[in-house]
Amino acid sequence: MTAAVTADIPLAPDRAHIARLYRAHLSTGRAVLGSVLGGMLETASDGAWVYTEDGRRYLDFGGYGVFILGHRHPAVTAAVHRQVDTHPLASRVFLEPVAARAAQALAERTPAGLDRVHFVNSGAEATEAGLKLARAHGHTALVSTAGGYHGKTLGALTATANPKYQQPFRPLLPDSTVVPYGDTDAMAATLAEVGRRACVIVEPVQGEGGVRVPPPGYLAEVSRLCRAYGAFLIVDEIQTGLGRLGAWWGMTAEGVRSPSPDVLLVGKGLSGGVVPVAAMVATEAAYRPFSRDPYLHTSTFAASPIACAAAWAAVEALDRENVVRRAAVLGDRLLTGVRAACAPYGEGLVHDVRGRGLLIGLEFAEERTAGELILELVGRGVLVNHSLNATRVLRLTPPAIVGEEDVRLFLAALAEGLSVVAARVG
Ligand SMILES: Cc1ncc(COP(=O)(O)O)c(C=O)c1O
Repeated sequence: MTAAVTADIPLAPDRAHIARLYRAHLSTGRAVLGSVLGGMLETASDGAWVYTEDGRRYLDFGGYGVFILGHRHPAVTAAVHRQVDTHPLASRVFLEPVAARAAQALAERTPAGLDRVHFVNSGAEATEAGLKLARAHGHTALVSTAGGYHGKTLGALTATANPKYQQPFRPLLPDSTVVPYGDTDAMAATLAEVGRRACVIVEPVQGEGGVRVPPPGYLAEVSRLCRAYGAFLIVDEIQTGLGRLGAWWGMTAEGVRSPSPDVLLVGKGLSGGVVPVAAMVATEAAYRPFSRDPYLHTSTFAASPIACAAAWAAVEALDRENVVRRAAVLGDRLLTGVRAACAPYGEGLVHDVRGRGLLIGLEFAEERTAGELILELVGRGVLVNHSLNATRVLRLTPPAIVGEEDVRLFLAALAEGLSVVAARVG
C-alpha cells in the first residue's frame, strides 16, 4: 500500500520546527512524549495505516478505540465531503434532515427502548449529558466503579476513578461513591443506602481500566438492582459499543435487555474515523426533560450536519459491511495469537492476556515493561495504546477491517518486541 495523497496543505515536514511549535503553543509535555516516541509527524492515514512525514507507515492497532472502521472509511469520507459541499454547520433555526436521519439510523441499532438520541462532540460530553439528565430526574448521588473511565470534564471526572486525574481539580461533584467493579454485593449495599437518588454509571468491559472483563451476568444484575432501588442507570459504551466487543453493544451481549438502562453512551467509532461525534441515547421517559425544553442542555456545535453525516454513514457501514461479526472473528483470532506470543514468558513478565472482541489487554508485571514494549512496537511499525487507568496494561483496539496479512505482521512484531523486553528484564 502506498501513502495516500494528502491534499495541498503544506505539511511542514520539519520535525524540529513542529516540536518547537508544540513547545511554544501547545503542550511541552506532549512535545517531550512525541520525541520519546521517535519524533515522527503523522500526516496521513488510510484504513489500518497511519503515515508519517518521512514516508513510513504504521499499522494502527491503537487509536484509543476510535477506528473500528479504520481511518477515513470511504463511505464516511464521501458523506462528509458531500456535507462540506452543501451544508456543514447548521443555522440552528430550521430543522436539520441529516441530524434526524443519523438519529434514526443509530436508534434502529440501539437496544429496544433507547430511541432518543442527543448528539454531542465528545465522549466526555455524552457523559455530562447523561449525568445532567439523571439530575433532572432527581438522581443526584453518583455511583461509579473503581477503575472506570468516563471522560475528564468536571462531572465526568467525578466518575473517572483515578486520583491522578481527579486530585488537581477537587472538589468535584458532591455526593459520589465509588464501588468495586464486578462486585454486585457492593453495588447492592450502596444502592440500599443511597436509594432512588442514585445515578449509576458503568462500562460493560472497562477499557481504560485495563480491559477488565467483569464476571458473567454482572451488568444484568447491576441493571436489576437499579430497577429494584429506583436508581438511574447509565451504561457507558463509548469504548465497547458499535461492534468493538464483537457485538453491537456489550450490554446486550451481557444479557441486559429489558428493561433497558435509562441511558446508553456512544462515541469513538461513531466518528467513522473521520469527524469527532458522540451521543447520549436515552429512553423516552428518561429524555423527557431535554425533549420538553430543547434549550435545557445545548452546545453550539452539537448535532452539526457534518458530524451527523459521519455518524449516519458510519452506522450504515458497520451494518452493511458486517463489521460486528468481523470484529468477533478477528478478535478470537487475535486473542489466540497474542496469547501464543506471550506463552513463552512467565507471569514475571506477562501477568495476563484478556479481552473480548477487538478490545484486548496485555497486563505486564511491571509498568515499565508496557512502556518499553510500546516503543519496541513503534520501532517495528505498529501503534498500540497504554491504558489511562491501568498503567501496566497495553491495550489493543485494532480496526475490524484488518486482513490476515496485517494480523501476521502485528503478531510477528509483538513476538520480536516481547523477546527484546524480556531479555532486558532478564
Ligand atoms: C468508556 C469511556 N467513556 C468516556 C470516554 C471519554 O471520551 P472522550 O475522550 O471522547 O471524551 C472514554 C474515552 O476513552 C471511554 O473509554
